[in-house]
Amino acid sequence: MNIIRNIEEFRKEREKTNKKVGFVPTMGALHEGHLSLIKKAKEENDFVIVSIFVNPAQFLKNEDFSKYPKKEAADIEICRLAGVDILFLPDADKIYQKDEPKVVAPNIRGFVLEGFHRPGHFDGVLTVVLKLLNLAKANNAYFGKKDAQQLILITQMVKNFFIDTNIIPCDTVREKSGLALSSRNVYLSQDDKIKALSLSKSLYKAVSMIQAGDLNSKNIIKEMEKILCEVEVDYVAITDRELNDIEKIELKNTVILVAAKVGTTRLIDNMWI
Ligand code: PAF
Repeated sequence: MNIIRNIEEFRKEREKTNKKVGFVPTMGALHEGHLSLIKKAKEENDFVIVSIFVNPAQFLKNEDFSKYPKKEAADIEICRLAGVDILFLPDADKIYQKDEPKVVAPNIRGFVLEGFHRPGHFDGVLTVVLKLLNLAKANNAYFGKKDAQQLILITQMVKNFFIDTNIIPCDTVREKSGLALSSRNVYLSQDDKIKALSLSKSLYKAVSMIQAGDLNSKNIIKEMEKILCEVEVDYVAITDRELNDIEKIELKNTVILVAAKVGTTRLIDNMWI
């Protein structure tokens, strides 16, 4: 595995391969969820690039940028064992220059849900993803469905900006308990971890109501909120895959989303129906 920190060196190495390239952008602190993206990229491509870059531009001033978990040595080992070809670890001052243009998230889809609670977050995500996609020039890039709004906005950006990379959505990986894997789970105390289960439990409740034939969004949200009573809920929403609120579940076109603070940690989770 080739570990590259320098952008020019990365570009030179990238130019050397004319294989089918799969790209997995990450912020490190890799877990089974990331590994599932890397495995899918390995299966579907002949050359795999992983980037690790904790992107300062997507953190709000009051957020956890400086204490975001960093596990570089372990991440390198995980990538090596997974058969990654290039691990790209750029420095922030090389990715960003002073006074440069940036991508602004779309007015509506970028400012509901996560965008409403974290204004500016998606400008930072889209800007860095555009840079990374331009550098990786991959055939396929892999993103988790757990960050549903991020995935939807990136898919839209790639279409709108005519970028030649397919965006491949990947299923959320969960602990046996149902808790969705996230690098931020390391912040949870034992007690928080139990409370955090209410997010996935509320989503499973929604799925079971839908399976039983109740497709009414209001009913489902009401039942979900009962399960979420011990956490500080930011939102429970039922939208179509363009993030418009919907009154009735549309099979194969719905996302049920929840965001809540558990202790001091903010978690998100969702189900794609
Ligand atoms: O999902 C993430 O880890 C980040 O938001 C991403 C896509 C790597 C951009 O920094």
